[in-house]
Amino acid sequence: MDAGPVRILFVCLGNICRSPTAEAVFRALAAREAPELNVAIDSAGTADYHLGSAPDARAQEAGRRRGYDMSARRARMIEPGDFERFELILAMDRSNWAALRRAAPRSARARVRLFLEYAPEAGVLEVPDPYYGGPNGFEEVLDLVEAASRGLLRHLREQARAG
Ligand code: 4NP
Repeated sequence: MDAGPVRILFVCLGNICRSPTAEAVFRALAAREAPELNVAIDSAGTADYHLGSAPDARAQEAGRRRGYDMSARRARMIEPGDFERFELILAMDRSNWAALRRAAPRSARARVRLFLEYAPEAGVLEVPDPYYGGPNGFEEVLDLVEAASRGLLRHLREQARAG
């Protein structure tokens, strides 16, 4: 029986830096390293500052240097239906996590997690907001997001094996 894809939503504040990066990285690594997994991936923001905008040029450029393309993304805000649609709703930092937990119906709260829970070796639980910082911030975002994407893929493979 085909249970359909595992639906995963990445969430940050503006949906122009961190969550588009997570979406692009996870999509590329899943296709390359775990093609047997059936995943559906999306991203959203908790704020409406950049609705309809393409990802930040600095995030796109840093991603492109590592082979990730996020150019098709247009920023959107989290909406009520997301809490029904997605099995995993992965926040980039505690502030996004808290906003999501406030917006989520009680039945969906356990599906709202911090993305970096999947990268325990990183020793941090938040992907720092790179928007007002220097270019190194975007490299740090990519490092953390790559680590957590690999951890999440490991988790999903184990889950698929366990049935
Ligand atoms: P993101 O980064 O949440 O990773 O997309 C930010 C984008 C915009 C702003 C803050 C963070 N802003 O304040 O406009």
